[in-house]
Formats: sequence, C-alpha cells, structure tokens
Amino acid sequence: MAVFLLLLTVSILSFTISPIQSTQESHSHVHIVYLGHNNGLSPSLTARSHLQLLSRVFTKPDEARDAILYSYSYGFSGFAAVLNSTQAASLSEAGEVISVFRSRMLQLHTTRSWDFMGLSLHTQMEQSAEIQLKYGDDVIVGILDTGVWPEHESFRNDRHLGDIPSSWRGTCVAGEEFDPATACNRKLIGARYYLAGFESEIGRLNTSGGAEYRSPRDRVGHGTHTASTAVGLVAPNASYFGGLGRGVARGGAPMARLAVYKVCWFKDLTGRCSDADILAAFDDALRDGVHVISASLGSSPPLMPLFMTSTEIGSFHAMQLEVATVFSAGNDGPDAAMVQNVSPWGITVAASTIDRRFPTKITLGNNDSLVGESFNVKDMKMMRLVESSSVFMDGSCSFDQLINGSRTGASGKIVLCFSTMGMVSSVGAALAVYVAGGAGVIFADTISLRSTQDNFLPTVHVDLRQGTRILDYIRGDRKATVHIARSDTIVGNTPAPAVAYFSSRGPSSISPNILKPDVTAPGVNILAAWPPKSSPTVIPLDKRSVSWNFDSGTSMSCPHVSGIVAVVRSVHPTWSPAAIKSALMTTAYIYDDTSDVMLAGGTLKAADAFDVGAGHVDPLRALDPGLVYDVGARDHVLFLCSIGNTQDQIRQMVLPSPGLDTSCGSAAATPDVDLNYPAVVLTHLNATVTVKRTVTNVGPRRDAVYHATVVSPQGSRAAVWPPALAFSPHSDKASYYVTVTPAKPSRGRYDFGEIVWSDGYHRVRTPLVVKVTTLPDKGVAAQSMDTRTATELVRDS
Ligand SMILES: *[C@@H]1O[C@H](CO)[C@@H](O)[C@H](O)[C@H]1NC(C)=O
Ligand SMILES: *[C@@H]1O[C@H](CO)[C@@H](O)[C@H](O)[C@H]1NC(C)=O
Ligand SMILES: *[C@@H]1O[C@H](CO)[C@@H](O)[C@H](O)[C@H]1NC(C)=O
Ligand SMILES: *[C@@H]1O[C@H](CO)[C@@H](O)[C@H](O)[C@H]1NC(C)=O
Ligand SMILES: *[C@@H]1O[C@H](CO)[C@@H](O)[C@H](O)[C@H]1NC(C)=O
Ligand SMILES: *[C@@H]1O[C@H](CO)[C@@H](O)[C@H](O)[C@H]1NC(C)=O
Repeated sequence: MAVFLLLLTVSILSFTISPIQSTQESHSHVHIVYLGHNNGLSPSLTARSHLQLLSRVFTKPDEARDAILYSYSYGFSGFAAVLNSTQAASLSEAGEVISVFRSRMLQLHTTRSWDFMGLSLHTQMEQSAEIQLKYGDDVIVGILDTGVWPEHESFRNDRHLGDIPSSWRGTCVAGEEFDPATACNRKLIGARYYLAGFESEIGRLNTSGGAEYRSPRDRVGHGTHTASTAVGLVAPNASYFGGLGRGVARGGAPMARLAVYKVCWFKDLTGRCSDADILAAFDDALRDGVHVISASLGSSPPLMPLFMTSTEIGSFHAMQLEVATVFSAGNDGPDAAMVQNVSPWGITVAASTIDRRFPTKITLGNNDSLVGESFNVKDMKMMRLVESSSVFMDGSCSFDQLINGSRTGASGKIVLCFSTMGMVSSVGAALAVYVAGGAGVIFADTISLRSTQDNFLPTVHVDLRQGTRILDYIRGDRKATVHIARSDTIVGNTPAPAVAYFSSRGPSSISPNILKPDVTAPGVNILAAWPPKSSPTVIPLDKRSVSWNFDSGTSMSCPHVSGIVAVVRSVHPTWSPAAIKSALMTTAYIYDDTSDVMLAGGTLKAADAFDVGAGHVDPLRALDPGLVYDVGARDHVLFLCSIGNTQDQIRQMVLPSPGLDTSCGSAAATPDVDLNYPAVVLTHLNATVTVKRTVTNVGPRRDAVYHATVVSPQGSRAAVWPPALAFSPHSDKASYYVTVTPAKPSRGRYDFGEIVWSDGYHRVRTPLVVKVTTLPDKGVAAQSMDTRTATELVRDS
C-alpha cells in the first residue's frame, strides 16, 4: 500500500500546476474516495454511509462532517474529503473502496492565458447547414467550464425554441449576480456551480471588484465562448471590435438546450478546475438528464490510470447512461504522446486551422515590401522601426533583457524580434515589447507557428528570410520606418484545415492501442461569445467592451464536436454514444497538406492519425455514415478486463444495470486491440496479428453490400477478410478480420494506412496504425506501466 501512495504523491508533485496551499492542516489535501456503484441506495442513505466510512479515520464525528466536501450519490457512490496521507492510506484499505486519489487542479485547454486581453480574430463554420436549424431542440448539452454570461444574445429566449424537454430534471441555482428568474430561459435551462474543491485547495475565491462571481456567471469568458460554439443561437451581426471577421455566428447545434456546470474558476489568468468539483458536476449533469457533456479541460501527462480521474470516471458513467462525453485533446503539441482524456468511452478532439488567413502587407521605408501574417486592425503608417538589440540587452525580446530606461527608447516604435535570439515565443516577445512601450512587433521565426496569432500587441509574423531582409534595411537606415497595413482576410485559397501546432498528439501514453485523438475540428482563432464587461487584465490594454472574441485551443475545437454530436443525436435519438463517435470518425476527412508545423525550408509536415485521429469532422456526412462500429457498456467491461481488472473490481466500477454482464470470462485473455473501436492501432508488431471488427448497417438500404479497400502501412502487409460484407433486412451486423504481417525488419516506427468499406455511396474509413518491432530494441526492454490500472498498482504494493 505504501508503494501505491508514494507513486501517487510523486506523480502529483511532478505535474501540479501551481503550489497548492492547503487551508487545512498542513499535510491535508482534497481526496476523492471512489466507491463505485451505490447498490441502489437513496442519496441520503449513501451520504450517511459515506460519513460512517469517513468517521473511521477521524477521532470525532464532527471532524468527519467538516472534512467532507461532496457526497457523490447519483450515478455512483463516492465522496470528496480533506484528508491527510495516513487517512487516505487507511481508507484505501477498506474493502468497499475502489480507489482513493488526490484531487488535482485541471486546466482549461485554451492556448493562452492572455485571452482576457481580448484580441485575435476570425470566424468559424461559415457553411450554413439547414439541418442545424431544424434539429437539436430536444437535446440538452451540458458544458463543464467557467460558467456563462446569460444575457449574451447567443443564449436568448428565442421564440423558435419549443418548451423545455419534459425529461429535464435540472435547475438554475441562484448566486452572485445570477438570478435564475432572469438568467435562465428556454435556451439556458440549467446552471449550477461547484466551488468546494477549488476553495479547499486554493483558498477562498476572491470576488472583490467583480474578479469572480460566486455563481454560474462567467468571469473568465472561456465558458461563454465554448457554450456559444457548441449551442449558441444564430447571431447575424457578430464581429470582433465591430470589424474583423464579421459574419453570422452560431453554435454547432443552435437549437439545442444549454445546461451550464461551472467548475473552473479564475486563478492566475486562467481557469482552474478541481477534480472534486468536476466529479460533482458529472454526478449532477447525469441526474439532470443532459444528453451530451462537453468538457474542454484536462491535465497534462503523466496521465493517471483510468478510474483515478474525475473525467474518466464521470464519462464512463455517462456512457452507461447513453450520454456522450466530448473532451479536448490538450494543447501540449507538437511533441508525441501528450494527448489527454484518452479513455475509449470519450471523444477526444484535436484542433485545426480553418481556411482563412490574414495576410498583412509590410512596406519598409525603402519601398521594399513583403507579406506577413497578422490580425492587425488598424493601418499603421510611417512607424519608426528598430531592431531588438536597441531595446533589449542581448537582443532577445524578453523582459529580463530590457535595457534600463528603454521605455522611452522603444516608445511608439515597431520592434523587430527573432525567435532564434534567446528562444522567445511571439507572445513573450509581444509582452516584453509592450512593457518597453513599443507599438508593435515584427516577429521572425524559423518554423511558422501559424496558429499562435494571439496578439494583444500588433504582431506580424514573418519567416527568417524576410526577417533578415528587414534587419538589413534597419542596419542601413538610421531612420528606418515601416508601414504595416490592415490585415486582409482571405478565405479559401490557403491550405486548410491544418492541424494546429499546439494540438496535443497521440499515441495515448496509457493505452496506445486506442487511437487518440479521435477527430479534429476547428480550434484556431474561433470567434464566439464573450462576457461584455471589460476583462480582468494584467495589462489593461483595451477597456472596450467586447461581446465576441477570438480564442484558440482544443478548448475551442471540443465544443464544435459537442454541437455536432447534439445534432446527430437529435436526428438519430437511438444511437449510442459509441455509434455517434463512430459516425464522426468514419466520415471524417483527411487532408494532404496538413500540419501547422512548417519545417525549415517551408515544407509542411504531413499530418497523421496521431495528429488528427480519423480526420476532420464532417457534420453532414456524420448524419449518414452507412456503417457504425458500435460498442456498449459490455464491450467496455471486456476492455477493462483486457487491461488487467478483475471481475470483482469491474463490478464495483460500473453502474449496476439489469442486463449488464460484468464477468470477464475468457475475455481476460483478449487484447485491448479487440475493442470494437473505429480505428486499429497495433503497437509492437513482431508477428502476424489478426483483429476483429463488427460493423452495423445504419444506412437507408437494409440490403447494402460493402467492399473493402486496404492501404497497408509501410513495412507491413494488411488484409481484410471477408473482402465484402452483405447486409439484409434480417441481419444488420457483420464482422470482418484484419490481418497484419510485418513485412520488413524494423526497430519500431509508426506507419499509417487505412481500411475503407464502401457500398458505392458511403465511404466508411478506419485508420490502421502499425508499429513493427521485429528487431530487438535494447533501450526499450522494460514494458512501461502503460496499461496497468489503479487497482493493479494497489495489488502490487
Ligand atoms: C492525520 O490525521 C489523523 C486524525 O486527525 C491523525 O491522527 C494523524 O496523525 C494525521 N497524520 C498525519 C501524517 O498528519
Ligand atoms: C482580490 O481582487 C482585487 C481586485 O481584483 C485585488 O485588488 C485584490 O488584491 C485581490 N485580493 C487578494 C487577496 O488577492
Ligand atoms: C452590426 O454591428 C455594427 C457594429 O458592430 C453596427 O454598426 C451595424 O449597424 C450592425 N448591423 C446591423 C444590421 O445590426
Ligand atoms: C517610395 O515610393 C514613393 C511613391 O511611390 C516615392 O515618392 C518615394 O520617393 C520612394 N522612396 C524611395 C526611398 O524610393
Ligand atoms: C535604472 O535607472 C534608474 C535611473 O535612471 C536607476 O535609479 C536604477 O538604479 C537603474 N536600474 C538598473 C537596474 O540599472
Ligand atoms: C513478440 O513480442 C511479444 C511481446 O510483445 C513477446 O512476448 C514475444 O516474445 C515476441 N516474439 C518475438 C518472436 O520476438
């Protein structure tokens, strides 16, 4: 047991975002004690049993009552409490306890914490889909985020919305500057907030000066943005500061209903979200009757074992209740294996660019001109232009190199910065130039990070060659000037979508055989709703009130998919979450020119399945996928068996449900690649492997016949048997086998192929990812803890 706790503690220390100050005893922290299903007890009985269990580790009953933050009692049984390590260890030994884990602080998946400063730009999903306006009104989307600005026109009481679905059991709770009578309506039908975990870890919420609201009201802006992206009503005249990116704004499912669960709170310029609060929100959302859960949050690797994070536990129960959960993949790209939220029962979304760019013409004083990329909203004529070394000691555009007294030196000027000098980012450079009093930055970079356009100070991105040309000019002209024109908006002729540089890449670091991310969606410079009050800013740059704002991150791509899921669910109310996910994945499109990572020399790295999953979502095709790879709770039980859980453990984890078989049977020997996932990933292939998949015909023709086409990944030979699948009115399911054989010796590199089933009309595409390791790799002898679960760790210790 000691080993188990030690492991936990070490990993928590290594990725806790900020030092956690406990307001309690110095060594006590919020822990989640997960008990699994609640044996059908009433919530009050369950809560009482939690108190009894907790009393065993406290001397006085009152102490136990004070320590408990939440009793989770609807979907499952468990509680959050402030415990010290001795108490946590002793509880984890109790027979009824599945896991005890420390509640962590999760982060929002927005690319920047600078978003409060309100800048950047761009519009999403221009193509109008009538279907979006016709469907979705019966679907309720729950958003776990920073709350909502209820007065925003995206959430108005639109007359086209029907009555609130009768299945809804949720509510709007009152709170600071949040009166349910005026805030909630037929669009915004639920609003709750969760603070106990946050305050236990971080301390009391600072609400002075409107810095936060002790209510579902959004201060950060992130939750308003994601909610409007998922389900915002059509807003005809949206634009950024009344100019750039003007157009019709709307969510993926404009008719769907919104239920807001505020779990993230303003801290250090971003939102912080406690596991304990998130789990409470899942519990409520499932009881309230949401159909889709959207959570743009997570925690960077190392990832916790399944059933030791609020998001994986909550989404498992959601899956059992036929509720789809959509997660963001994280913003830790472009390095491999940083993807988050990797359980097979969730949908994990990467971020890509859209085909809109903002070319910006730069004219130097010698009339030489070049085109960079920016979000410049004003024409900047005859600006003085200086090189970075006249403002920063070593020429690197960073704070600590600021030359004393240079505030006046840079004042009102444009500063040329190079990423290669001191390895600064464009955001860092802009911040340093801002502090120096500069008016703007020309930022020259080796790789083009096309997605980080988050300017709070006008920043024009150029490549190294252009930067060098500008530098030559500055050095030859003591009174160098520059004219930076307003950015143009160009739609259509840019290579897009491209996966965003920041988007977290696969493979999953805990279960590499489950492809992650699953799909990609727009997540760069997304224009969506924003709280109109001026935001809390470290740098009070712009006090203008905005009601639309641009933001980037997998936080932004996740709600696009949540909205699409809501529409698919509305059109196909009987489809399981897995069927909906399959529909999104098999109809997704892949692109040729595809990555936001521009290599030296200007070539783009091609995106693969670890960048974009099955590809970019295609909402209309997802409504008619032809075939789906369906799985239910039973299949996920077998998956849990395959990664080493025993029958007893599994019986505890899952919600009790009459028909659900929780036995492992012979399945314990089944590898996890056999989960009927809409992707096949084979790691460490050293001999021929055969995996089985089963597809269900959901197309309009009951007697459809599908034929397979296979593209073998390099270094292997893949074949599908049988080569054709015939469906009939009596049989809508058919199975096939994929056999993959290593074709040449390899020490292990991922290669990518595909399996496509087609009936001449539908195209059902499944990524096939293989890593052949036929040669010994001395460095990787030890199998990592990849697929071991919490309970295995307990067993070992
Ligand atoms: C934890 O709390 C219990 C009960 O208050 C106490 O007996 C124990 O000594 C504490 N352990 C540590 C490590 O602080
Ligand atoms: C609380 O917020 C206000 C206004 O934003 C700030 O002035 C104050 O210093 C904060 N208090 C604490 C304890 O952080
Ligand atoms: C759209 O908004 C702009 C300002 O953002 C305003 O000037 C214009 O009149 C609006 N147009 C309509 C049709 O409401
Ligand atoms: C740049 O062009 C303008 C107008 O075309 C001209 O008046 C000016 O003399 C030119 N400057 C230089 C340095 O060539
Ligand atoms: C910066 O300059 C001011 C006066 O101009 C002086 O008082 C201060 O000590 C200087 N700081 C540094 C770090 O040189
Ligand atoms: C193939 O890999 C498995 C483990 O992945 C190992 O047990 C087996 O010995 C390997 N076979 C060969 C021929 O290297």
